[in-house]
Amino acid sequence: MEWSFDTRCIHGEAHAYQDGARSVSFPIYQTATFGHSLIGHEQFNYSRQDNPTRLQLEEVVASLEEAKEAIAFSSGMAAVSALVELLRPGDHILCGEDLYGGVTRLFDQVCAKNGIEVSYVDTTSLSQVEASIRPNTRLMHVETPSNPMMKVTDIQACARIAHAHGALLSVDNTFLTPVFQRPLTLGADIVVHSGSKYLSGHNDTISGFLVLNELEIADRLRLIAKTIGAALAPFDCWLVLRGLKTLHVRVRHQERTAKKIVETLEKHPLVREVYYIGRPGHPGYEVNQSQATGSGAMISFRTVDQETAHRALKKVRLITFAESLGGTESLLTYPLTQTHCEVPGPLREKLGIDETLLRLSVGLEDAEDLVKDLTQALEK
Ligand SMILES: Cc1ncc(COP(=O)(O)O)c(C=O)c1O
Repeated sequence: MEWSFDTRCIHGEAHAYQDGARSVSFPIYQTATFGHSLIGHEQFNYSRQDNPTRLQLEEVVASLEEAKEAIAFSSGMAAVSALVELLRPGDHILCGEDLYGGVTRLFDQVCAKNGIEVSYVDTTSLSQVEASIRPNTRLMHVETPSNPMMKVTDIQACARIAHAHGALLSVDNTFLTPVFQRPLTLGADIVVHSGSKYLSGHNDTISGFLVLNELEIADRLRLIAKTIGAALAPFDCWLVLRGLKTLHVRVRHQERTAKKIVETLEKHPLVREVYYIGRPGHPGYEVNQSQATGSGAMISFRTVDQETAHRALKKVRLITFAESLGGTESLLTYPLTQTHCEVPGPLREKLGIDETLLRLSVGLEDAEDLVKDLTQALEK
């Protein structure tokens, strides 16, 4: 039977593993190891390698992304670190220039040391993508929309370019989630998630995923995950599983609230520019409409000056001034000193990540309350 997306958020395809109790909430197998009855008959071995709660979570996430495989990691960064372990010294990564600062740090400070070349490209320009491909490009990595400038990249077009040159395309789908966008159906090879965000959804756990169809690559990634010990612990697997049960309801509601907040911000005299991919004036609006069914609940905006941005961060009462995104609580982030502090200065300036830029993750609070809080926080 083919269940709808909303049903699969709650049930997945089927239970990966079930014991006699038939508990409705999938059990937390809080164990380091598993006993065996006979040599060669072991279903599970050791929780760094495999665990029923993790397996259940991986099946649900794979199902939501319309994938054959999902691998759960201890964080989004652990997932991206495993992804780049597919590469060898001398290989080249072509990646979107606007992306989460931790990924930039990984590429610049770890991959470079390991002999992997990286170039940062404006992937909203397909001619720039084409021109930046090298004979040794093995991986193209994009966030769409990107963090924090909300740039939209054409996934199908990038997949065509990557594949024509023998490279894999990985797409970070953290911001839109499979509720709104399924990159594998658009030709991407691997989907990356920071599960710490919308998938778990309650600002209470850190997790990450790689999701894909190619079984041979999935086997290599599982080998890397078990070898480097980056798997997600059973309790955190359960938290993400529980969060996923309401994913579809949460993100659609958050999107509706985000649209109301965008209307307020656009009219506010102390706000200079609003970056939200659901507004027809956004440069990526059409491409996003063509490849996603929604625009999500992430908004970046620029205040008229630094003083206003600092004041807003200090004065928010309901909204929390904090890193992260995608949870039930609304968070206001200052990318310059938080999420993107380690992006090299010239790139940060080029992208416009400056002292006036704020990023808002719209939570599940009442829309009017959020508008009230933001408005009072911006005022002198
Ligand atoms: C788009 C995106 N990808 C990946 C990551 C890294 O995920 P984690 O914090 O779970 O390691 C983040 C973290 O903020 C992110 O925003």
